[in-house]
Amino acid sequence: MRRRIYPVTLPMSEIKSVGVVGGGMMGSGIAQLSAVNGFEVWIHDSDSAALSKANQSISTRIQSIVSKGQLSKEKGAQALRNLNCTSNLEDFGLVDIVIEAIVESEEVKKRLFGLLDNIVKSSAILASNTSSISITRLASATSRPSQVIGMHFMNPPPIMKLVEIIRGANTSDDTFNATKVLAERLGKKIICSQDFSGFIVNRILMPMINEAFHALYTGVATKEDIDAGMKYGTNHPMGPLELADHIGLDVCLSIMRVLYAGLGDSKYAPCPLLVQYVDAGRLGRKKGFGVYNYSKM
Ligand code: NAI
Repeated sequence: MRRRIYPVTLPMSEIKSVGVVGGGMMGSGIAQLSAVNGFEVWIHDSDSAALSKANQSISTRIQSIVSKGQLSKEKGAQALRNLNCTSNLEDFGLVDIVIEAIVESEEVKKRLFGLLDNIVKSSAILASNTSSISITRLASATSRPSQVIGMHFMNPPPIMKLVEIIRGANTSDDTFNATKVLAERLGKKIICSQDFSGFIVNRILMPMINEAFHALYTGVATKEDIDAGMKYGTNHPMGPLELADHIGLDVCLSIMRVLYAGLGDSKYAPCPLLVQYVDAGRLGRKKGFGVYNYSKM
């Protein structure tokens, strides 16, 4: 963990440093992407083991893209120098933007936004990578709702082309423009959503995944045939159950619950089989077992 000398404060539109909270699948990918694209990056996780794992996996992935010739040695070395891991959130004092990628829980995220509001400089943007939670409500935990925005990366962030930007009810044009410029500098295609549960992508994707669980639950077909149907029949790169394992069944369930609560329609009720798998700890690839068993592979 190395300390740095803080740069001078910059106007919002010139984001140069990025703080990432959460070193899991998404946070580590966002930190890697930012470091490779020349931003100074600070990454924090409340779990020290998760933070070390993030540090290790980002370094390994950067070295791997260098060895494949996709990034020059010099840029790879610079990316590694750009990356700072910290167990102390206070180190985020002078970052230009924080991208939060912690557990998909409104209560936990709000607590973090309240803390960050008291730590980061007054011009900093607070962005959330939430899959579904209201940006307006996260903003209400801060004294700077005009500087709170949704910046929803797809999994894995270094590879997937899209960033969905979500404007809360009070998000300012300055905040939107600065976030858009940042996403463009990270090489992403941008779409813009209003702040309603699930935004654009998960509003459409998650009910499809939930329906695939219903098809499995009610015995319509085997998991392999459900996935093959969507893969070969509709040209999706992955079947919906395979995709759920990739995203994390806990994340899928949290999103379905947000859609159900926020949109108030029974069609969004989570499938009982999805609930049961999560209760049983079958969270997908990250745990080695979800719809499919990866420990046998
Ligand atoms: P994950 O479970 O892999 O990682 C979450 C990390 O956050 C863990 O390392 C945990 O220790 C850390 N954490 C939890 N509470 C914390 C706190 N208060 N302070 C600091 N660190 C804390 O989760 P994943 O999949 O990376 O998801 C993170 C966020 O990104 C969620 O909001 C999720 O909905 C969203 N997302 C997930 C996608 C996916 O495919 N998994 C895709 C797009 C968005």
